Amino acid sequence: MPSNMTQRSTSVKHAAQLLREGKLVAIPTETVYGLAGNGFNEAAIKAIFTTKERPFYDPLILHTHAVEKITAWGMHIPESLMPLAEKFWPGPLTLLIERSSQVSDFVTSGLPRVAFRIPQHPLTLQLLAELDFPLAAPSANPFGFVSPTAPEHVLQHFEGKIDMVLDGGSCTVGIESTIVGVEGDEVIIYRLGGLAVEEIEAVVGKVSLRTSSSKPDAPGMLQRHYAPNKPVVTVTDQKSLSDAFSTHPNAGCMLYNLSAPSACPAERVFRLSDKQDSKEAAAKFYNALRMMSDDRSIETILVERLPDFALGRAINDRLRRAAVEEDQK
Ligand code: TXA
Ligand code: MG
Repeated sequence: MPSNMTQRSTSVKHAAQLLREGKLVAIPTETVYGLAGNGFNEAAIKAIFTTKERPFYDPLILHTHAVEKITAWGMHIPESLMPLAEKFWPGPLTLLIERSSQVSDFVTSGLPRVAFRIPQHPLTLQLLAELDFPLAAPSANPFGFVSPTAPEHVLQHFEGKIDMVLDGGSCTVGIESTIVGVEGDEVIIYRLGGLAVEEIEAVVGKVSLRTSSSKPDAPGMLQRHYAPNKPVVTVTDQKSLSDAFSTHPNAGCMLYNLSAPSACPAERVFRLSDKQDSKEAAAKFYNALRMMSDDRSIETILVERLPDFALGRAINDRLRRAAVEEDQK
């Protein structure tokens, strides 16, 4: 635990020093900010779980800057996933690979595979290149909260609780990485994310989706996740939006394609992408959810579901999980 304030800085050298000492540093990536610690240091890994109040059954992702490092640590990317690593790393892709004895049970929650990712952010790539260990880094938010896409978000959660935020500005992709593994001949997506299914299938052919929370092999995909502190109601067309707004007149509207209800004040309307680009929508999504959560004039968050392709699928998946409480009422 740091004794004073959390430093916000762009110093890669300082971040590396703190991490070598076993301390925690929030790091920028293209997807979301990560709460990073030495992935080979059990004390640092435990500190990540306690700081996030994350249950130990939810495994962590290890980050590094080069495939050669993974090999040097005695681990090998499955042959059928290599084309994905070559094409999309650094990028919003996480691969499940058989772990070596160097990887502790605390990282994988006892599972036989470990999740690895090479993130695309210049500061973090520089940082990872300086270290001789991988960084374990879950998203830098308390467990079950909306993920942080800017240094301010991290500080809102962890000011005084971690030593440093490496300031790399806002995240460009804006939603978590897509998690991919292989079982037998089958390439499987375990979490929809910032790399679209279509892009993956263009490289390895048809893949299977296994993103349900009930599966024991993807323990982090819990039903109630990514939840803001207000009820989230999803709508699909102009009629369901208008009906929902009549029921929730103090709602804010997060829209993609639809027009805002005429009774909704402009300051409670958030548009994700005027040109209907799901990448732009993903980059703005968590920030919009956060702003609507913080806005006291908004009681309910009405969100338009996106068309179910490209990053629309990953956004809809998060909406389903955020809205689950409301659906159960
Ligand atoms: O984009 C991202 O992936 C971000 C940035 C910081 O890299 N990280 C991130 O980590 O989203 P986190 O901890 O919020 O999500 C990690 C998820 C777990 O909840 C679990 O679903 C999956 O990764 N995971 C990790 N290891 C796994 C394993 N061995 N088998 C199956 N799923 C695993
Ligand atoms: Mg997370």
